[in-house]
Amino acid sequence: MTVDRIFDVVADAAPEIRAGLPERRAKAETENVSGETQLEADLWADDLLCERFEDVAGVTWYASEERDEVERVGDDEDGYTVALDPLDGSSNVKSNNPCGTVVGVYDEPLPAPGDSLVAAGFVLYGPTTTMVVARDGEVREYLVEADGRTDLGPVELPDDPVVYGFGGRVPEWTDEFEAFVRDVEEDLKLRYGGAMIADVNQVLVYGGAFGYPGLQSRPGGKLRVHFESVPMAYVVETAGGASSDGSKSLLECDPDSLHERTPTFVGNESVIEALEDALPN
Ligand code: AHG
Ligand code: MN
Ligand code: MN
Repeated sequence: MTVDRIFDVVADAAPEIRAGLPERRAKAETENVSGETQLEADLWADDLLCERFEDVAGVTWYASEERDEVERVGDDEDGYTVALDPLDGSSNVKSNNPCGTVVGVYDEPLPAPGDSLVAAGFVLYGPTTTMVVARDGEVREYLVEADGRTDLGPVELPDDPVVYGFGGRVPEWTDEFEAFVRDVEEDLKLRYGGAMIADVNQVLVYGGAFGYPGLQSRPGGKLRVHFESVPMAYVVETAGGASSDGSKSLLECDPDSLHERTPTFVGNESVIEALEDALPN
């Protein structure tokens, strides 16, 4: 089945991507369409993954944070779109902190609404390489090694929130969001690592919330709808949590453009509800 094959392709590529990082820590001479300086590793991981999806039955489109346009792959007319953030948290490569790969499987060409996502997941290059996959109403975690992957079992968000991490400089936050965070920090512990993939994974393990808010200079915040926000929202919601763009679930969003950004919040329902209550709607 195509969705199985998609995650097999990503799991097969993961050890290779991980092994290729040490020699690709330098900055490339280019910026992506979002205006961010790319690393050699960003471009290389993107090319490697695009190539691997060139001949996967049932996949018609390859889209990535690092490419201006969607790429036609495969011969099927109405196949899935695979949308990737090939290296999420790539600024962490320099400091040897975690980074990862985000995967969204859409059943429409992009741009597409959040409810066209049919499966999502991510690879986390941490002390071990793991892959988390959300599909068919369930989230599972796998240990990924060069000779294959091992099922580590289902992932469910713990009932009680413990950790939180919110991106962006505090002076750039809105007053309402800052007031909300002051409440959150009364009870939860700050753990922010600068790679959404790792920050969301610790929310899945300990409970809590991760977010990148709209900023005063950039109301859409930093994270990209198709490549980061919606796939991670799908994982967290499937694991029993909630997501929001500040007023509604990220899975209800309806973006107009491929590289659109959105304020992004995921975590325990109690924290996400409090956030929506705190922000003006
Ligand atoms: P990417 O490396 O794919 O551009 O993504 C980085 C994102 C996300 O992973 C993380 O949550 C956020 O940027 C960190 O941003 P700050 O450096 O502003 O904290
Ligand atoms: Mn990213
Ligand atoms: Mn990236």
